[in-house]
Amino acid sequence: MFTTRYLTLIAVMVLASCSTDQPPWNDQELAIIQSFQLNRLPPKDSPSNQYANNPQAASLGKAIFFDPQFSLGATLSCAGCHKPELAFTDGLPKAQGIMKTGRNTQSILGAAYHNWFYWDGRKDSLWAQALVPFEAADEMASNRVRVLRIIGADERYRREYEALFGTFPTMVFQPSIPDEAGPWGNEKSRKQWFGIPQHARHTINKAYANIGKAVAAYMRTLDIPKTRFDHYVETLENKGETTARALLSEQETLGLKLFINENRTHCLRCHNGPLFTNGDFHNIGSGRFKGEQLDFGRYLGVMALQQDAFNCLGRYSDAEPEQCQSLRFLQRDVHEELKGAFKTPSLRNLDKTAPHFHDGRFGSLEAVIQHYLAPQTPDSELPDIQLDDTEQQAILAFLKTLTHDR
Ligand code: HEC
Ligand code: HEC
Repeated sequence: MFTTRYLTLIAVMVLASCSTDQPPWNDQELAIIQSFQLNRLPPKDSPSNQYANNPQAASLGKAIFFDPQFSLGATLSCAGCHKPELAFTDGLPKAQGIMKTGRNTQSILGAAYHNWFYWDGRKDSLWAQALVPFEAADEMASNRVRVLRIIGADERYRREYEALFGTFPTMVFQPSIPDEAGPWGNEKSRKQWFGIPQHARHTINKAYANIGKAVAAYMRTLDIPKTRFDHYVETLENKGETTARALLSEQETLGLKLFINENRTHCLRCHNGPLFTNGDFHNIGSGRFKGEQLDFGRYLGVMALQQDAFNCLGRYSDAEPEQCQSLRFLQRDVHEELKGAFKTPSLRNLDKTAPHFHDGRFGSLEAVIQHYLAPQTPDSELPDIQLDDTEQQAILAFLKTLTHDR
């Protein structure tokens, strides 16, 4: 009797120690885990925007970001699609602007650390990016002349604009400048835009670029909130493994172990660093090369980037050419492998950024994981990935620790 009870006790003790005594992280794993810390983010760099860190510019930019006046019919602001409570996304598979767009709304949290913007990276700065939605027919469907007229006619906007950028170009109010004029509008709008004398177009572009620089200054202030995972890593570093263990469940720890195991999951190849993205473009078999949902991704993004009047090397940039490293060393000839490559998204705040992928095709993280386990298309960079049920659940549990504490 005594022996049986004694044995049971030992068995319980062994089991208990098995469940809490996972082997400690080895040095290599520890280094990877520490590399995810937010304090490892590089300094935010934006040589093409001299107002990038200017608080007055950020304040003007914030007001513009939340103001629906800048869209056709004054119905939609940037924040209409980039909602602060959803990590600056909209919860829709594809964004709904003045018309339905072809892509999923990206989160803006952490965007300041990227070199390329949009799923195809067709912009090389936040300020150049910010100039697109005002004029995109499917987003805000306005144009640069109208945007500037609103700034110039509003007392607060005009005062703040002039305090930062100097005299406002009142020439935009001249009757000879058509109200519907922009290089990306419909045929009439384009015709009217190119009918404006070149020097006047330059003046308009310069002031319009300033608006982008202010909006970018605001977006750069949006910091990434810490999550339970970040507290775990901090505790691991400062107080050691035994204390840290209370912060992640066993399942979450197993998920983390798999996530950083490059031979098993390969996730780390693309989803690395504090934002869980390398900021680069990869083909994971999600491009569509025919049909209505045609999307070549980075393949066309590279071409658009080089032709962009607002890029780092353009006349509206504040950078010296040698500061435009990313653009100068861009692979200029378009390569086949860029077809169907998209910008690796951050894995932070996934509960708020759903649906997932550039076209919002996956409503759940479970479905995303199934994509990685499915046989790949021949053009995909993904190797074969195999995970059993327990392992899949563990990765999902780990991904959920990258979400805000509530
Ligand atoms: C109709 C909804 C909609 C509106 C309005 C809108 N956006 Fe977006 N935003 C999107 C979509 C969709 C994407 C991805 C588009 C793509 O890749 O082609 C995006 C992408 C971005 C990105 C790129 C993030 C990254 O990591 O590359 C930034 C920054 C951004 N928007 C800022 C803005 C600003 C600033 C405004 C207002 C001037 C704005 N957006 C208005 C839907 C919208
Ligand atoms: C070769 C690079 C690469 C590898 C390896 C990789 N990913 Fe991705 N991941 C991407 C790209 C690119 C996208 C966006 C695809 C698109 O938009 O069509 C993405 C999207 C995602 C998303 C959706 C995020 C969102 O908000 O849209 C999740 C979640 C994700 N990956 C998790 C993982 C996990 C977990 C692994 C390992 C099992 C992994 N990824 C391996 C490149 C990669």
